[in-house]
Amino acid sequence: MSDPATSIESQARVIEVAGPRHVAIIMDGNGRWAKARGLPRAAGHREGVEALRRVVEACRELGVEHLTVFSFSTENWRRPPSEISALFDLLRLYVARDLARLRQEGVRIRIIGSREGLEPDLLRIIDECVTTTGHNTAFNLNIAFNYGGRAEIVEAVRAAARAVSRGEIAPDAIDESFLSACLWTRDLPDPDLLIRTSGEQRISNFLLWGCAYTEIVFMEERWPDFDRGCMERALDVFRSRQRRFGGVGA
Ligand code: FPP
Repeated sequence: MSDPATSIESQARVIEVAGPRHVAIIMDGNGRWAKARGLPRAAGHREGVEALRRVVEACRELGVEHLTVFSFSTENWRRPPSEISALFDLLRLYVARDLARLRQEGVRIRIIGSREGLEPDLLRIIDECVTTTGHNTAFNLNIAFNYGGRAEIVEAVRAAARAVSRGEIAPDAIDESFLSACLWTRDLPDPDLLIRTSGEQRISNFLLWGCAYTEIVFMEERWPDFDRGCMERALDVFRSRQRRFGGVGA
């Protein structure tokens, strides 16, 4: 039998150095990247898709299991219609170009968010991604599209209220795990690491419930410039943190 002191020590080391299982990213700075080059904002978003391709690859190689990216928020409807349609077209293009390869490589794609306001062809594309990759297990790419953290919680509360009105659960029996199971993100682990690029230091309504104990790393790079080296630096910062989850640590 191993010496309990040694095994506690080695456990502590594992907790300290283990990489994040779930990385979430607020891909910010596309507009500023484009403006700095005298290009339209849509060009920044297009370049942002290239960065996403690089980062999916890097995460897979670095042992991350889940990558969740914020690609269109419920607040992004406030942008000019031309930018909104450019962002919708990018999802169409990304799926048209990458879905077959990602599916073959064993990537499971989830698209999380509200279906409200999305055009029928986009809904079909979303359903196709989810159903045709649903059995894959090599890596999880979760695209938050038409997503808002508060909207997600409101939807979950509505689902819980409906369950109460059907007599399936008593109000006092509603707990964190019941409400978690009503979220759009119900089958995802909580993010371990949240990265926001381009120097802004806000959560902007992203994964509000799941990020209760997530480590946050803010990086200066604009999203189109983000690459494997940036991801490795973010993972190094994550590994240097001590996670206590409200406790007192090892
Ligand atoms: C924030 O930058 C970025 C977005 C609102 C969109 C992010 C989308 C992509 C990277 C491409 C879409 C990906 C898929 C899978 C379709 P910003 O426009 O707010 O930049 P700014 O703060 O510099 O203006």
